[in-house]
Amino acid sequence: MVITGASRGIGRSLALGLGKSGCELLLTSLERDELSSLAEELSAESGITVVWMAADLTDGSERRRFLDWIAARKLPPDILINNAGAGYFGRFTSSRWSDIERTLILNIHVPTLLIRELLPTLRNRPEAKIVNISSGISRLPYPGLAVYGAAKGYLSSFSESLACELAGTNISVLCFHPGFTSTHFMSTAGMDMKRIPKFLIHTPEAVAERIVNAIKKDTTWTYSDFSSRLGVFLAGFLPRRIKTGLFKNLFWRLPDEN
Ligand SMILES: NC(=O)c1ccc[n+]([C@@H]2O[C@H](COP(=O)([O-])OP(=O)(O)OC[C@H]3O[C@@H](n4cnc5c(N)ncnc54)[C@H](OP(=O)(O)O)[C@@H]3O)[C@@H](O)[C@H]2O)c1
Repeated sequence: MVITGASRGIGRSLALGLGKSGCELLLTSLERDELSSLAEELSAESGITVVWMAADLTDGSERRRFLDWIAARKLPPDILINNAGAGYFGRFTSSRWSDIERTLILNIHVPTLLIRELLPTLRNRPEAKIVNISSGISRLPYPGLAVYGAAKGYLSSFSESLACELAGTNISVLCFHPGFTSTHFMSTAGMDMKRIPKFLIHTPEAVAERIVNAIKKDTTWTYSDFSSRLGVFLAGFLPRRIKTGLFKNLFWRLPDEN
């Protein structure tokens, strides 16, 4: 099983949760230290084979090195979890192109390419699964996260069509939508979570548990919690103008509005 973004947050909790199933784990993230200590912890706890490689997946040559490393494994993976993701917080018009480009590459280009490259391997397994970690925001308008939200919108839409294309084959697709989760994500993006009601924020462990259950139940599309699911459902009925007014300052203000 391949898990990207396994060093911390949801990916780390997922690795710890899925380690219990006893399958070999192939982990990756940007930094090596966290990966190496996670692999040690997992091997000691579960006695499973855990191998890892640090790679910047936004970099073409590092991505190639990562794919070659997977191809060289004796036991080919049967599950690919596209979890690595990041965004930045800021008004689109004043965003740096480098931030926009990195967000698009990490959240769109990387999962698409990994799926395409690993499909032949997954086809050769009796049963295989692709898990894409999108976001509840993929179906909602959040100012300051326009590029990230749209990138996750791509991932959800892509997953939905891919699930149809692969229906009836040995490969199934799960698109999972976490709601607000207390990880490094928000601080990395430069966001202030103070105005987000506590009941809407979940732990990475709880979110990972929902993902593991969704994998076991062979679900194709789900959310981390009821409030995220309800929010997306209800927002679908709102007239555009009301939706824009409501979401403009719902949870935060843009940096230049403070
Ligand atoms: N937290 C939330 O509220 C939330 C809500 C909805 C969806 N999500 C999605 O859930 C997934 C996991 O996010 P999280 O909250 O667990 O975030 P996180 O704690 O910031 O972890 C992100 C992971 O992605 C890895 N990563 C970042 N840039 C990378 C790159 N260029 N190459 C390779 N790996 C890279 C990080 O590696 P390093 O640690 O080595 O930097 C880390 O392992 C993401 O796809 C995110 O978009 C999160």
